[in-house]
Amino acid sequence: MLKGKKILIGITGSIAAYKIPVLIRLLKKEGAEIKVVATPSAFEFVTPLTLSTLSGNPVSVESHDKLTGNWNSHIELGLWADLFLIAPVTANTLAKLRSGVADNYLLTVYLSTRCKVMLAPAMDVDMYLHPATHENIEVLQKHGNLIIAPTSGELASGLCGEGRMEEPEVIVGLIKAFFKQRNQFFGVKVLVTAGPTYEPIDPVRFIGNHSSGLMGFEIAKAFANRGAHVDLVAGPVNLKINHPLVDVHPVTTAAEMFEKVSILFSAANIAVMCAAVADYTPENPSVTKIKKTKDDLNLSLVQTQDILFHIGKVKTENQYLVGFALETDNAFQHALKKLHNKNLDLIVLNTLEDQGAGFRHQTNKVTLIDRNESFTEFKLKIKSEVAADIIDHIAKKLST
Ligand code: C5P
Repeated sequence: MLKGKKILIGITGSIAAYKIPVLIRLLKKEGAEIKVVATPSAFEFVTPLTLSTLSGNPVSVESHDKLTGNWNSHIELGLWADLFLIAPVTANTLAKLRSGVADNYLLTVYLSTRCKVMLAPAMDVDMYLHPATHENIEVLQKHGNLIIAPTSGELASGLCGEGRMEEPEVIVGLIKAFFKQRNQFFGVKVLVTAGPTYEPIDPVRFIGNHSSGLMGFEIAKAFANRGAHVDLVAGPVNLKINHPLVDVHPVTTAAEMFEKVSILFSAANIAVMCAAVADYTPENPSVTKIKKTKDDLNLSLVQTQDILFHIGKVKTENQYLVGFALETDNAFQHALKKLHNKNLDLIVLNTLEDQGAGFRHQTNKVTLIDRNESFTEFKLKIKSEVAADIIDHIAKKLST
């Protein structure tokens, strides 16, 4: 399953390092090639001889060999790997990784690697629960690293709680899943819209909605993590995405989003329209701020273009089109109507009747309805998991 995969394992000075020889054995059995890089304090817990014997390669710990003067290129090691797993990662190394400190060889390899990095933190419960550690993990996640969350249980200190490094068997499972998914959408172009649109009333006011854009951003990220090239057309949101396979196209109004999507759609194999686009826009936005001079004010609104309807009309047989339906009542009937009216392959229904679903939540509860009206219901999940469900479904449909 991992035949030919080049995995670089970084070890730091935590007692959990005793699990790494077992991990190396398991990965080798799966056919992976293993190289090890360690911080000097890792050798307090596991010997270089054990690691080099099991991995079949010398262990790197310094940028040069003191006896021979031979130079170990951190860049070469970083480029060699298909995956860099740092396990266990101490609180100290997490803090350094977060801020780009490069005062040991492992850290220089981390900064120069181009492959995905997985981090498996291991530390005492209070260190793990400290806000500084949590903030470091959050930032490292935003930098694109995959975190293997520690489990709860008995710790070396005698305390009990979160902080135990995940078991080698589980880490092998995660690595296998990573490689399986990584190239699922390689070479596929995906267009995603996300967030609200703002329709100007005057230079300081607008008509908008509560969409945070999170669902669309998670979908874009998840596609990119599986190898797709993603164009993400985003309305005004407070989110950032930093992924080499995602191009973000910021827009403000429905008209701007329409224009951008119209240009990008022809090259897309899959389009997922997640944005909460305004249906109406002020007919004549004022060029100056509207003053409070009258008792009442009537705004004349005109319809915006329905972007999804438009691309549903021009889509070819080879393009797979997904829409969203956020409903408050008769959810299923409304979603079915949209599915057919807009010529979609799939509609993702979420309803505000479900607690924790829709706008402004970190979670969502969706039902996926296919063109033939067969449907799959999911339970309430965090939006990254919902994104994974949607993408798994699309992958299945496209492979049949
Ligand atoms: O008809 P309704 O606006 O509820 O449809 C929702 C779906 O249509 C969403 O996928 C949304 O992104 C898309 N839509 C759009 N352009 C609009 C309005 C909605 O692309 N102007």
